[in-house]
Amino acid sequence: MEILTIGFEEQLRLLRRIAAPIKDINGEIVQLAEDMIDAMVKGNGIGLAGPQVGRLERIFTLKIGDKDPMVFINPEITATSAELSSYEEGCLSIPGQYADVNRPAELQIQAWNTRGRPFTVEVDDILATVIQHELDHLNGILFIDHLSDRKRKKILGKFDVDAENYPEVE
Ligand code: NI
Repeated sequence: MEILTIGFEEQLRLLRRIAAPIKDINGEIVQLAEDMIDAMVKGNGIGLAGPQVGRLERIFTLKIGDKDPMVFINPEITATSAELSSYEEGCLSIPGQYADVNRPAELQIQAWNTRGRPFTVEVDDILATVIQHELDHLNGILFIDHLSDRKRKKILGKFDVDAENYPEVE
């Protein structure tokens, strides 16, 4: 399973698209989740979202440390803390680039698992950051969108993307 990167115009355009809700959590979606987990682990990532593998569907996977991988389908953040935390973020679609991003330190999220069951979890720390980063992907938002224009321009430049040609979310 190929992971899209911002260095290719067509792939960047896909990464800037808003993903659609998954209507039926069927065997094909279960397989997609498994393939995404494999690709994520192979790429040494801790999170991966549908659009990053060319699937404009609301699904992301994550795996932190030795914990079991998790799958979030049609996720919605239902509460966030006022308190922020800052982590150095990276992204499999923006390889080799890292920058500090401020996000709410804690949140509550509701989603469906691959058995089609809804669940709600409250998370903090790195898990809260990864979840927000992955949920952003479902809305066409990349971590560089949280940086200053200057920093974003610098990172885009490393992939030969002119800041003026950076696509709007659609
Ligand atoms: Ni990412």
